[in-house]
Amino acid sequence: MTTPKTLAVLISGRGSNLAALIAAVEDGRLPARIVLVLADRDCAGLEHALNAGIPVQLIDRKLPDFGARLTAALPPVDFIVLAGFLSIIPPALIRRFPQKIINLHPSLLPKFGGPGMYGLRVHAAVLAAGETESGCSVHWVDEGVDTGAVIAQARVPVQAGDSPESLAARVQAEEHELLIRTLGRLLDGPPIAVL
Ligand code: GRF
Repeated sequence: MTTPKTLAVLISGRGSNLAALIAAVEDGRLPARIVLVLADRDCAGLEHALNAGIPVQLIDRKLPDFGARLTAALPPVDFIVLAGFLSIIPPALIRRFPQKIINLHPSLLPKFGGPGMYGLRVHAAVLAAGETESGCSVHWVDEGVDTGAVIAQARVPVQAGDSPESLAARVQAEEHELLIRTLGRLLDGPPIAVL
């Protein structure tokens, strides 16, 4: 029997993507083990990890040596998943895990990414720009903000009368599946082509 690959999941918020990952591991869709859930603030998402018996760690983002603590806290894992993690990843951590850190972003990158583009702000910007479609992206994490190579995307239509909230809900439903599908391909082995 092969040993399942290991994941660390980093969160800052409600953790619906973390919950989707936990469910996919538990029902066998994702051949992996989540060995750590790490949060940079006290957040609702930690409950999902605690309920699933996954070790959790909280490192306050306001600590002056936050980046060093974060880098030191992560055990050797096959992949690190940023699932709604709002702190910047320090360069030392990126160097420690080359091509192993992925992020999920609620837009069709490179559109609507970068500093300040998170949560409902992303969807409000999509609507203000008059886009007819939006979506979500899984990308490699590099030293920029949302600038790493895109691995996979899913698209959703923007509908007449959409609010940032209604668009967010449509995108988020796709995010969960995109994240699980993409991780499944990454865990499967050989490097995959980027878009
Ligand atoms: C998602 O929209 C993701 O794209 C972004 O942060 C949000 C996290 O949502 N990076 P949740 O905490 O997983 O519910």
